[in-house]
Amino acid sequence: MATERFRREVIAGLLSAPKRLPSKLFYDERGSQLFDEITRLDEYYLTRTEISIFERYLPEMAALVGPNALVIEFGTGAGIKTAMLLRSLDHPRAYIPIDISSEQLAIASRELSARFPTVAVHPVCADYTESFRLPVVERGERNVIFFPGSTIGNFEPPGAVEFLRRAASLVGTPGALLIGFDRVKDRKTLEAAYNDKKGVTAQFNRHLIERVAEGFEVSISPEDFEHYAFYNEPENRIEMHLVSRKSQVLCLDSQTIHLAAGEHIITEYSYKYTPESFAKILAESGFQVSNTWTDPMDYFALCHAVVQR
Ligand SMILES: C[S@@+](CC[C@H](N)C(=O)[O-])C[C@H]1O[C@@H](n2cnc3c(N)ncnc32)[C@H](O)[C@@H]1O
Repeated sequence: MATERFRREVIAGLLSAPKRLPSKLFYDERGSQLFDEITRLDEYYLTRTEISIFERYLPEMAALVGPNALVIEFGTGAGIKTAMLLRSLDHPRAYIPIDISSEQLAIASRELSARFPTVAVHPVCADYTESFRLPVVERGERNVIFFPGSTIGNFEPPGAVEFLRRAASLVGTPGALLIGFDRVKDRKTLEAAYNDKKGVTAQFNRHLIERVAEGFEVSISPEDFEHYAFYNEPENRIEMHLVSRKSQVLCLDSQTIHLAAGEHIITEYSYKYTPESFAKILAESGFQVSNTWTDPMDYFALCHAVVQR
């Protein structure tokens, strides 16, 4: 049986119109493994492009972050980009990974501690959209929030601003943000990235149904839902949905939820930005862009921004 909070969030989402399930619920141990598989798919240009930008520009990024930094990361995942950053920084002091996926957080933290014995690693298993406490750690000369992977794209723009405002107050001054965002591009490339041929993204999407089935101890089959992902161009976002293949009734705790055949459940938004539209989000959140780096195809970008006084 899942936690009370998980059950509350699922029920609230399925009672809303249109029906939704929050994308953070993808990430338990299995969901994190599936996401890792996605990052290695041919169609999923995001991870390899972001890594290529790091490979090329990390010395510039590290110079902007400065020495003795305290690094706070939102959504560490497997920590591959974290290792690249920590290796490039000048004597990073401490690292605080924050992730909702407890098993993966424990593995990544253990590996990073072993690889960087002079960096104090203080993992926090939390939902970063809720209020949470940071461990008491001696602050560095510069504190930096690391938020790669274009995970910021999962927030709708007003939510992204609200979240980044909270991040600015968490990091304080002098403080900075090193953040990755996915760029607006042609529909074909975008839609292929979320509709891979091997069907891993479809499995990842349907994993939410496995979580609901397990969390409420009910019998719902992932096979009764179709994966549907498309680019909503006016809104500059990929939308991932699950579409019910038949009329179904879900009894979740004391709630009865009806799903019509063909009814959609929204499971993820992934907003795409231009450097200009992203700089606007950052300015509204209290950050000033110091530099933006991109790849030769203009597919992805990383941005360093400082908290405005
Ligand atoms: C898209 S993955 C990115 C992983 C990694 N940073 C990367 O760039 O490959 C999102 C990560 O954020 C975590 N995550 C998603 N929503 C979260 C939330 N609300 N609170 C904490 N962690 C969250 C997931 O568990 C996952 O590790």
